[in-house]
Amino acid sequence: MVVGAGGAGLYAALTAALEGARVVLVAATPLAQTASYWAQGGLAAALAADDSPDIHRQDTETAGRGAVRRSAANVLVREAPHAVDDLQRLGVRFDADRRGRLALSLEGGHSRRRVAHAGGSATGRRVVRQLSAVVAEDPRITVLEPARAAAAWTVDGRCVGVVLEDGRAIHARASILATGGAAALWSRTTNPPGSLGIGMLLAHDAGAALADLEFVQFHPTAVTGIPGREGFLVTEAIRGEGATLHDARGERFVEELAPRDEVSRAVHQTMREQGVTHVDLDMREVDMAKFPNVVDALRESGLDPATTRIPVAPASHYVMGGVVADLDGATTVPGLYAVGESSCTGLHGANRLASNSLSECFVWGRRAALAGLTETEVPAASLPAPPAAAPIQKPSRATQEALWTYAGIERTREGLEHLLTDPHPLARLVARCALLREETRGSHRRSDFPETDPALDGRHAVVRGEHEPV
Ligand code: SIN
Repeated sequence: MVVGAGGAGLYAALTAALEGARVVLVAATPLAQTASYWAQGGLAAALAADDSPDIHRQDTETAGRGAVRRSAANVLVREAPHAVDDLQRLGVRFDADRRGRLALSLEGGHSRRRVAHAGGSATGRRVVRQLSAVVAEDPRITVLEPARAAAAWTVDGRCVGVVLEDGRAIHARASILATGGAAALWSRTTNPPGSLGIGMLLAHDAGAALADLEFVQFHPTAVTGIPGREGFLVTEAIRGEGATLHDARGERFVEELAPRDEVSRAVHQTMREQGVTHVDLDMREVDMAKFPNVVDALRESGLDPATTRIPVAPASHYVMGGVVADLDGATTVPGLYAVGESSCTGLHGANRLASNSLSECFVWGRRAALAGLTETEVPAASLPAPPAAAPIQKPSRATQEALWTYAGIERTREGLEHLLTDPHPLARLVARCALLREETRGSHRRSDFPETDPALDGRHAVVRGEHEPV
């Protein structure tokens, strides 16, 4: 069983089906509201002649600021090129250069051109549409939509399936959570509204460990001040093609292709020092034909990037933390797997390298599907009745504002302690992880602990039950 029909979920379902398994795929939202569908960048993979998996790993580790788990990074960089090949085999058409080779773009923190993309900056949309068309044709996959998971069905500490909000219980040899991230818990976000950490809460309720929830990436160039477009992402690949950032005086203030934590922090500090609500992205010199969906969206909002600088500010974009998962996506609860943004393998450390996340979806989607098939099936007849399950708690607007204020780009002990009493459980877990990390590292900036503490290199904040010590 797979919960979630973004890139990771669709690919996991297809992988298992190709191995001959019957799969139930649970989709809560229409395709167009999955985070994968919104992804603009692409898949990072060492495909260029001047690149290698080792260089890709080094870039991943540098961006991740001493918190990347090397074994996870090695899996990603070695398998991402195969994921790109396999997607092509499944019918995804990546953009090519004039000689017919894959066109690779450059994003922040990458020392080589290595981001494979489709339709310019419409990569997520193209990939998700194609995979869902293949899934729809596969008789071994049953798609339940719209359907929402409410709880893991556990017996003696083992997950034997998932209970849906409507009361249906799906019994499965293995259950894979591919429910996406939690960035929409913050009031200003680039994410679709459903990115609320549903899978993380479900896994936590089932007793699974979560980790690294303090590491929340803020994307530096989300549109602001334009009605109807608040938080719209202007892909980093546009900076890779030469777009520049300018402060209120029109001056450049940051190296535009530095890792994302650095650029977001520079934007935040500049806005604060100058008392303004945005900086400006100048893409007038960029070849607009490469980014048709960004240009169309901006023009629909009355902004012509060919003639005008675009007002942008940071917005929450990606949660590096999530359900603790191993190199096959297995969580600490037997039978339960987590992949993609819902999981935390340690791959992204304290600051994800751009476009590693789509690659991760396919690398871990496949691994979890294959590992899940090796699980022993618990016969349904031997199981007690599944538990009744209530819908997983959604955040109030007040929680979203509180996370933005107290667990945003800069945090303090006082603010984080305020969050410990928030009614939303994931907000409290974020606060617990962020309080534990008494240092500044990557996306986690404590103004009361402004330095990185080398003693915490490679250390992770792990949370289990509300009352257990961390
Ligand atoms: C972007 O296109 O700027 C975002 C890509 C990513 O988050 O990896």
